[in-house]
Amino acid sequence: MGRLEGKSVIITGAGSGIGRAASLMFAKEGAKLIVVDRSDSVQETAKLVGNAGGTIEAVMADAGSESDVKGFVDRAVSKYGRLDAIWANAGVSGGLVPLLDQTVEHWQEILRINLIGPFLAIKHSMPHMIAQNYGSIVCTASVAGLKSGASGHPYAASKAGVISLVQTTAYSLSGTGVRINAVCPGLIETGMTKPIFDRARERGTEAKIGQLNPLQRNGEPSEIAEMALFLASDGASYVNGQAMVVDGGLSSSHPVARSGKAGTRL
Ligand SMILES: NC(=O)c1ccc[n+]([C@@H]2O[C@H](COP(=O)([O-])OP(=O)(O)OC[C@H]3O[C@@H](n4cnc5c(N)ncnc54)[C@H](O)[C@@H]3O)[C@@H](O)[C@H]2O)c1
Repeated sequence: MGRLEGKSVIITGAGSGIGRAASLMFAKEGAKLIVVDRSDSVQETAKLVGNAGGTIEAVMADAGSESDVKGFVDRAVSKYGRLDAIWANAGVSGGLVPLLDQTVEHWQEILRINLIGPFLAIKHSMPHMIAQNYGSIVCTASVAGLKSGASGHPYAASKAGVISLVQTTAYSLSGTGVRINAVCPGLIETGMTKPIFDRARERGTEAKIGQLNPLQRNGEPSEIAEMALFLASDGASYVNGQAMVVDGGLSSSHPVARSGKAGTRL
């Protein structure tokens, strides 16, 4: 039995990076998937999963548009008869724009996708889940939502908002049998962070990537997918309202000057 055997699951942002890795992993664990992305790369994700024997349908949609979100939630319910889990994972970084150059439009677009998107996923999936007295909602936040230093301002604010949304919604869902949690990735090599990795490779500094965390490396998309899989599954039946950090230990410490050999630092 897979950890998501027979479960009907939606994953957004599934055309790349973390969402694609999760689609392959969730399907392997028995989930029946609706995968969503605004890019047609989501068709390739569906092909990869289908070729591996998974049950999947790709939907091209905007995770920050209410009519689109309602559309793909309804599609999951009509195709699979129910909705057991949704992972609101689609996001954009917005880059690093100096504060004085940031516009209201720039902020609005990042908040629309990164924060209002998860709100819409919650709003449209929870009635189905409450009717079933069962469901798990997962939203992608970030270490950037915990502290500064990991992104631009609107991205950080959007991800802090996701953590707050998850905490407040857990209480709105009291007594319904529906759980909600966030996952907070550290630095993961995906489409979003490709420029960072490309730049480091060009300069020959790739060995420095991830050196700020105690594991001293970047994370892989599958390492985030593992956490979301756990949160979506019955293995996490008593985990609710939490922001689960998967960052190699980055956020566990104040900044410190490092000295000494690996394994000897106090
Ligand atoms: N990569 C990291 O280091 C990192 C760290 C912390 C959090 N995150 C978060 O992880 C999530 C997944 O990102 P990733 O790293 O896999 O990046 P990615 O760019 O590889 O994948 C994100 C996907 O989301 C899609 N998307 C963007 N806006 C959308 C919209 N409005 N509607 C539908 N699809 C949309 C993109 O087309 C893309 O396929 C994001 O929420 C991101 O903020 C990533």
